[in-house]
Amino acid sequence: MYPLEFEGKDIISIRDLSREEIDYILEIADAMEPLAHKGSDMLKGKILATLFFEPSTRTRLSFEAAMHKLSGSTIGFAEADIASVRKGENLADTVRTVENYVDVIALRHPLEGAARLAAEFAEVPVINGGSGAEEHPTQAILDLYTIMKEKGEIDGLKIALVGDLRYGRTVHSLAYALSKYNVELYLVSPESLKMRWEVLETIKEKIPVTEEANLEKIVPLVDVLYVTRIQKERFPDPAEYMKVKGSYRIGLETLRRAKKDMIVLHPLPRADEISSEVDETPHARYFQQVWNGMVTRMALLALILGAVK
Ligand code: CP
Repeated sequence: MYPLEFEGKDIISIRDLSREEIDYILEIADAMEPLAHKGSDMLKGKILATLFFEPSTRTRLSFEAAMHKLSGSTIGFAEADIASVRKGENLADTVRTVENYVDVIALRHPLEGAARLAAEFAEVPVINGGSGAEEHPTQAILDLYTIMKEKGEIDGLKIALVGDLRYGRTVHSLAYALSKYNVELYLVSPESLKMRWEVLETIKEKIPVTEEANLEKIVPLVDVLYVTRIQKERFPDPAEYMKVKGSYRIGLETLRRAKKDMIVLHPLPRADEISSEVDETPHARYFQQVWNGMVTRMALLALILGAVK
């Protein structure tokens, strides 16, 4: 019924997946929901390595939880300082070593292109858990899943991406992913943090895109407000960060003009861009995203490891 082949596939960029493939992952994720509660032995005997060269809470732990829910196991490191990278081992040698122990690798790395390089050297599939400011494809999958679950479908929606569209990898992957659907996209950022040129050029050919600096103008129009943190750690010049720090703050006053059923998403972690008062409103869905991250990663691991065809 589904002529899609996921077994052994690397997930490096969301651009490598067709809409049909993404829709299938979302469908499998939905089917995984009961297993996320009661568990399954679907991945018994399989091992995931999480090689995280940058900090993470959600991505690494949800990959590990996803594996445990399906009776698989995990090894890995969460800071390169404790691995042999500290002794000068390069990424290619690291993955060629780790692939001997595991069936799949999830990798986060500060350098753009690192996940692609790792996939070229590894015999086992590599999943990109965030590559510098470039992409975070599994975050885009969980974001789409959240939108689908909360709004019923993705097609027909008006969606705003807000904040750091230059250095934020989640919005790059999400913009590419949304351009495969029939949506209208609003890109809200300060001038210096506008969407990366290559992303904008690609998505503009496929869907209507509006760039805007004024958040107040956009809030009443949209069904989904996807807010991001300004990525302080990626600014080459701290003075440039200070100019845009606190550009957008979503509070109760901002939401007063929103559609009643508008949802607020955020990949997390947040700094001060969404006030904690918003957490108690029906708009807030960012902690639901956290759960959805585990469910969608269960689906991805089951597909890539051939437990679901
Ligand atoms: N959303 C996300 O990537 O969170 P972490 O950095 O905690 O993994």
